[in-house]
Amino acid sequence: MPEATPVDVLVMGAGSVGCYVGGSLASEGVRVAFVGRPRVLDALARHGLVLTDLDGGDRRLRPTALQLFDHVPEGLHPALVLLTVKSGATVEAAAELDAALPPRTPVLSLQNGISNAHHAARAAPTLNVLPGMVPFNVAELGPGHFHRGTRGRLAARQDPALRTWVAVFDQAGLGLDLHPDLLPVQWGKLLLNLNNPVNALSGLPLREELLDRGYRRCLAALMDEALEALEWARIRPAQLAAVPPRRMPSILRLPTPLFRWVAARMLRIDAQARSSMADDLALGRRTEIDALCGEVVRLARGNGARAPLNARMVELVEAWPRKPEHMSAQALMSALGIQ
Ligand SMILES: NC(=O)c1ccc[n+]([C@@H]2O[C@H](COP(=O)([O-])OP(=O)(O)OC[C@H]3O[C@@H](n4cnc5c(N)ncnc54)[C@H](OP(=O)(O)O)[C@@H]3O)[C@@H](O)[C@H]2O)c1
Repeated sequence: MPEATPVDVLVMGAGSVGCYVGGSLASEGVRVAFVGRPRVLDALARHGLVLTDLDGGDRRLRPTALQLFDHVPEGLHPALVLLTVKSGATVEAAAELDAALPPRTPVLSLQNGISNAHHAARAAPTLNVLPGMVPFNVAELGPGHFHRGTRGRLAARQDPALRTWVAVFDQAGLGLDLHPDLLPVQWGKLLLNLNNPVNALSGLPLREELLDRGYRRCLAALMDEALEALEWARIRPAQLAAVPPRRMPSILRLPTPLFRWVAARMLRIDAQARSSMADDLALGRRTEIDALCGEVVRLARGNGARAPLNARMVELVEAWPRKPEHMSAQALMSALGIQ
């Protein structure tokens, strides 16, 4: 690995989100260092970084323009860290950052779920960990090639450390909206992510899964349960899709020809796109089910209620390694007790 040169941004977890967001900043001249695994680092060192998007964007960074590390090097003083590992790797990654970086270094968690920033802050007590939210989808299309398949602006909890970054993120085409309270935004995203386990268990591309009313009824039921838990907790989830969160379950339950018409925008997805949880199941990796459905279960429980469908979904995804069989819509409906 090369000697460290000065960096502005450190990406902790060079995968889909880390490479896309870090690469977008690097293409605007921000000095970015990437910490990742050999599989990704080797690809970046050979091919460089290619960033494409659904709007026809195509940015390229040569291998020599990239600073790549297989651990957090001592002596780096990044002005900002982007924490972009999956939920199961948060604690270990945060502890590694804590051991290597100067106190109060801002760490922006660009992870799904609700509690990653909290877990990271506990594992990295000397650092300034802030929650963030990535609204768009990024897929790795080939070695070093990351593609943004949907649109949206990044969001984070307001903090003086992030103020100067807003213009830089805008310039890089990422956006960065700062919110006094990010929780409603995180829950707005989590509601949409409840489709990840449905999609993973279906074994189908997202579009095909969403065009099956049975799977949509499962998703609607999971959302209803989450919306009820949110109401108990007095959290109003932010609207991140074309329709307000409260209206999503009834739209999902529409007969398919009507749904196709009403949700035309939602169905503008690459024909082969799948949720990354589907890839996790296929590759035998740990999933983020606990950070999604598990979070709904905990929210309900915290208010003396229950969320049995989300709890069942956690069980089904966790049982996958023992019984790796995709489920038809009918099978998933009966497993969730939906008539
Ligand atoms: N991809 C998307 O479209 C998308 C969109 C919005 C939000 N998100 C969220 O963003 C987060 C990251 O997702 P992702 O899809 O970018 O994940 P990813 O592609 O798996 O990238 C994370 C990378 O970090 C590596 N890593 C883990 N611990 C590390 C450590 N201690 N040091 C160095 N590298 C480490 C992982 O390696 P291992 O595989 O060995 O752990 C993996 O290569 C998740 O919370 C996800 O839900 C993703």
